Amino acid sequence: MSKVTRRTALGLAAAVPMFAIGKGAHADPLILKFSHVVTPDAPKGKAALLFKQLAEKYTGGKVSVEVYPNSSLYKDKEELEALQLGSVQFLAPSVSKFGPLGVKEFDVFDLPFLMSDETHARAMMASPMMDLFNKKLEDKGVTPLAYWDNGPQLYTANVPLIMPDDFRGLKMRIQGSKVLDAVARQLGALPQIIAFGELYQALQTGVVDGEDNVASNISTQKLYDVQKNLTVSNHSRLTYSLITNKKFWDGLPADVRPGLDRAVKETTAFFNDTAAKDNETAMGTIKASGKTEIHLLTDDEKKAWIAKLMPVHKEMEGRFGKEFIAQIYKASGFVPPQS
Ligand code: LMR
Repeated sequence: MSKVTRRTALGLAAAVPMFAIGKGAHADPLILKFSHVVTPDAPKGKAALLFKQLAEKYTGGKVSVEVYPNSSLYKDKEELEALQLGSVQFLAPSVSKFGPLGVKEFDVFDLPFLMSDETHARAMMASPMMDLFNKKLEDKGVTPLAYWDNGPQLYTANVPLIMPDDFRGLKMRIQGSKVLDAVARQLGALPQIIAFGELYQALQTGVVDGEDNVASNISTQKLYDVQKNLTVSNHSRLTYSLITNKKFWDGLPADVRPGLDRAVKETTAFFNDTAAKDNETAMGTIKASGKTEIHLLTDDEKKAWIAKLMPVHKEMEGRFGKEFIAQIYKASGFVPPQS
């Protein structure tokens, strides 16, 4: 079977039960799959379980949500393809992984220090600019239902990362965006895309020397077992989008969709309430492990990081256009430092 034919066949097979629901009074519940790559006790893992509970409740049992944590169904790249094919209905990936969907614009979320705190992240997500991002996804058959801010990214490695030069020659795991690739290169490191589900092992075996992540992921993945140093660099945010297959979503029966809409809204409120608390608890767990030294940056060190990484913004004007970058600055409230 040719690639296209096989993919189409897979897509159709998956789509049949999806659209065969709601026909009779006693129809079986519609089975909806929610796949993700983190543990059930990470903020996204908890949110997925809450979404299941709320979706089933608010639809009066018309849907049954199956949650697959820990990349048990699909890894980073596969899950996006599966969503487009209709084999899975809900994902909440980091927007840094949207490149393979053909929507490069989301990479700007990774511009260093663009969203260094919650205020900037929330401003960005509340801005009219998001309509443009949403449209890009819809054009690819993907409907964004919500955005979830999972907090600041921190660098980890086996060597202390205090000044930008400390990255020189290190193999750094990146999620996938072109901006993250440029950031690593600007730091003199060697970027390597590795699926989240393979990260622990990659660090343990030395395939890569370091990575960046939120504290709750570092803690729930036990990366502190294999990383001796953590720098509170807050150089960007880990942003998720709760996404679904557009055709599936638009075709939902009228007695199912409002219940799911309500579940999305309440799960989003829960996520936004939980992520920061979980990151704080996670920092305590990492500290208590005694295995990872935590480094805070002084103002001068932070300035050196910003000075080193601002050229990535400039470089990315070539990829996204100067005007687009200016709009992003405005949307997030970012003011570039005077050089
Ligand atoms: C990562 O790949 O580091 C994160 O995007 C994983 C996640 O979903 O939190």
